[in-house]
Amino acid sequence: MRTYLVTGGAGFIGSNFIHYMFGKYGDDIRIINVDALTYAGNPENLKEVQDQDNYVFVRADICDREAISRIFTEYDIDRVVHFAAESHVDRSIKNPEIFIRTNVLGTAVMLNCARDAWENSDGTFREGKRFLHVSTDEVYGSLEEDGGYFYETTPYAPHSPYSASKASSDMLVKAYMDTYRFPANITNCSNNYGPYQFPEKLIPLMINNALLGKKLPVYGDGKNVRDWLYVEDHVKAIDMVMEKGRLFETYNIGGHNEKQNIEIVRTIIEVLQEMLSKDDPRRALVSEELITYVEDRKGHDRRYAIAPDKIRAEIGWEPETMFREGIRRTIQWYFEHEDWMKYVTSGAYQKYYEEMYDVK
Ligand code: NAD
Ligand code: DAU
Repeated sequence: MRTYLVTGGAGFIGSNFIHYMFGKYGDDIRIINVDALTYAGNPENLKEVQDQDNYVFVRADICDREAISRIFTEYDIDRVVHFAAESHVDRSIKNPEIFIRTNVLGTAVMLNCARDAWENSDGTFREGKRFLHVSTDEVYGSLEEDGGYFYETTPYAPHSPYSASKASSDMLVKAYMDTYRFPANITNCSNNYGPYQFPEKLIPLMINNALLGKKLPVYGDGKNVRDWLYVEDHVKAIDMVMEKGRLFETYNIGGHNEKQNIEIVRTIIEVLQEMLSKDDPRRALVSEELITYVEDRKGHDRRYAIAPDKIRAEIGWEPETMFREGIRRTIQWYFEHEDWMKYVTSGAYQKYYEEMYDVK
């Protein structure tokens, strides 16, 4: 039985990955999920699997070397899938230091512990061991509106404290591969959306606000472009990179689905109106009149767009979910998980929201 150590598995992409992997491999794998349960981590995301014998949850901080090394001693880990990070650009602008701590130091701890557990006395690594570092397209900086794509060879040019911390963590992984021949891959993915996404990010925030008849805060002119990928397509790509990817390589993962933020907001409104029945009181609340242009994000990157040519050619992965279909599925999930949304938007979320958007 192969054993995966997933970091940040209680967050958005990590929990989708765990569900996908159990759906695909069932009892043939064991997953150890290590997560500190910050504001972004929610054990509810994994309640369907929490009682399985082949699932173990460890609440720990990835910066805690003792706790992480204990996991490697207790379990013979075959694969590390490293999602844990502070992931929200707006938070990084307000409070950069926690991003350096978790994303840079935490990654260093993960690398060191995996190396300690996997390295033979002659400097080679035990057969079949593999570390996958999940990173972002934001490390490549910002593209012009009228052209160009991010390739694996695009030089790093991060702008926000978040992307700078992710770029630093990628550099550490590259350094371990170059110095020790540490068996790793890096994946750089574009913007994800789908079930379990925390409603501080654009798409779930807009869905939640629209259903409550609250303003839809669009930064700047609303014309910044992101390349949206349905989360299930992303987690499938991660599994495929571990199975078929060449070690030491970087793979870009993207949806070939560029949209301006304002288009996203308008699509959400349209799809909500289509999906809400005429007698649902929320239908009357959902309207374009809620769109409100607000102050722009500091240093706001204009456009991201991934060229997923390498992963398609070498591994045969392609994005499968068309955007409108992905948005419908996402909205359907939020309809079916109203309690989840109420729970995650209670308490500390309200304080964050009021401070961030200057509303009471
Ligand atoms: P998320 O914020 O939803 O989840 C992060 C998880 O990590 C949470 O469960 C949190 O509790 C945990 N965590 C945070 N600090 C920790 C620490 N010190 N120790 C242990 N656990 C800790 O993030 P996400 O959107 O699921 O992103 C996962 C990864 O994918 C991140 O590395 C992010 O940079 C990358 N990524 C995200 C996107 C996206 O669109 N969301 C796109 C590309 C890459
Ligand atoms: O590109 C990959 C990255 O995508 C990941 O590495 C990050 O972890 C993830 O959070 C995401 O970063 P973004 O900053 O692109 O995502 P966010 O959802 O915060 O914002 C998407 C766009 O929408 C961005 O241009 C800012 C804008 N926006 C966002 C919010 C929250 C608004 O206009 N209004 C908002 O209220």
